[in-house]
Amino acid sequence: MTAQNATTIQELITHAAAVAARAHCPYSHFHVGAALRATDGRIFTGCNVENASYGLTICAERNAVFQAVAQNIKSFTAIAIVADGKAIPYPCGACRQVLVEFCPPTLPVYIASREQPTTYQTLTLGELLPHTFQL
Ligand code: THU
Repeated sequence: MTAQNATTIQELITHAAAVAARAHCPYSHFHVGAALRATDGRIFTGCNVENASYGLTICAERNAVFQAVAQNIKSFTAIAIVADGKAIPYPCGACRQVLVEFCPPTLPVYIASREQPTTYQTLTLGELLPHTFQL
């Protein structure tokens, strides 16, 4: 697992919480934010963006990945995910698979609720999605 110190982790969670506030979620009212740290240190963020045609909704995690890729950044050292509710907001299966496209199984994934952003769970991407699909 790439070493990250507590300040760096909390900074990433703060970015995820800030972008979660900008989620477009008039249907679920469930705000999600994700912050990806690139290998060069830059942070790319994404929120969920819902649509009246529900299936067109994009999750926060994929949005963050796509924001980075659009800037030609495809190498990451960590991701933080923050969402509404008391429960730990584990990323959906689709987002896990998209992260696998760009990130190693050792990628640290910091997950926190918006209510308590200082308390977070740390998992690796490999723990979240073992036996991934590879072409
Ligand atoms: N959502 C995410 O942003 N990330 C996930 O990993 C799961 C779900 C969003 C999609 C939708 O806008 C809302 O949460 C409720 O499903």
